[in-house]
Amino acid sequence: MNCAHNILGGSGMDVLEAIKARRSVRSYKEKPVPDDLVEKMLDAARWAPTGGNIQPWRFIVVKDRTLLDLLKKVSPGYLGNAPLAIVICSDKEHSYKVGGQLAKDYLTIADCSMAAASITLAAHALGLGTCVVKSFSHIAVKELLNIPKGVEPELIVVVGYPANIPKPPPREPLDRIVYLNRYGENFEKRDGENMGRVEKTGDDYLFELALFLATSAQGCLNEPPLYGPFRLLDALSRLIDLQEYGGGLTQDPFLRDLKNFVDSKKFLVMYDVEGFKRAIDEVVMRLTTEAKKRYLISKGATRECCGQGMKNPSQENKYGVQNEHASNIFS
Ligand SMILES: Cc1cc2nc3c(=O)[nH]c(=O)nc-3n(C[C@H](O)[C@H](O)[C@H](O)COP(=O)(O)O)c2cc1C
Repeated sequence: MNCAHNILGGSGMDVLEAIKARRSVRSYKEKPVPDDLVEKMLDAARWAPTGGNIQPWRFIVVKDRTLLDLLKKVSPGYLGNAPLAIVICSDKEHSYKVGGQLAKDYLTIADCSMAAASITLAAHALGLGTCVVKSFSHIAVKELLNIPKGVEPELIVVVGYPANIPKPPPREPLDRIVYLNRYGENFEKRDGENMGRVEKTGDDYLFELALFLATSAQGCLNEPPLYGPFRLLDALSRLIDLQEYGGGLTQDPFLRDLKNFVDSKKFLVMYDVEGFKRAIDEVVMRLTTEAKKRYLISKGATRECCGQGMKNPSQENKYGVQNEHASNIFS
């Protein structure tokens, strides 16, 4: 069973063992938890996933015995005398600023739960016991720990060396809680079934794109504001793929390159907002430069059409194509 203690550096098997062996502990030894182990648990917490990588969590490590006793007094669900508690808070104000209403109302809770899961598993790997506590008075905990306005305590994780590890509470069997493909349909293990690729036509692709745009528009109502430009950029990339499926469309190397650029940069939105903004600028500049190449015949023509109206709007561009767009743009 010691293999579970290799969770932070061991194989996938160790993680699975640890997930099953972890228990909610409600009786602890007095022995204090060393600070380097506390740091390891918190380090595991900050590597948990968060919606939009917003990382709204703030952790208060409570070691002061008097404060721990007071915390316990205002938390009916807090059992046992653990020497440490980690209060996981979410910075709702920051979350709203960066991620909008959805992030503030929902993502923060999911994110803090992810952090709690990592803490409990890391603690188990380090030979510690934990118990997640949600039954506490929010206003009392805020008052006791000087938690400012705009920040909310979401969960308390009580930590210590277990005096007693409880038996595993029963779990529902998988066949009662897991369905295959549709709610209510039995899950049966049959690897590889229905995995074939579905051939897509241009019409399918266009329909898919319409669905993507509609669901993205809906998302824009409450997703993080930066997801709007992210979805549009993604739509641009998907639109260019229409060349693959749409009959009558020619392959356009410029658009293909642009798509590759977009796909290589779009996820910057998750971790480098300034880089993401620069990438959007670059996309606009590439398109604008290309538009100039495609639609402006010469500098002289530009001046002519902008200043005095296009004299011959249907003249050929430098690709030898009848330039109807030029008349549209500059008329
Ligand atoms: C969101 C959440 C809130 C919980 N709140 C409490 C609590 O207030 N007090 C408590 O003793 N246990 C609490 N627990 C622990 C559960 O009772 C425990 O996880 C469950 O009984 C399964 O036991 P196990 O963790 O040992 O597998 C909470 C767990 C979660 C995930």
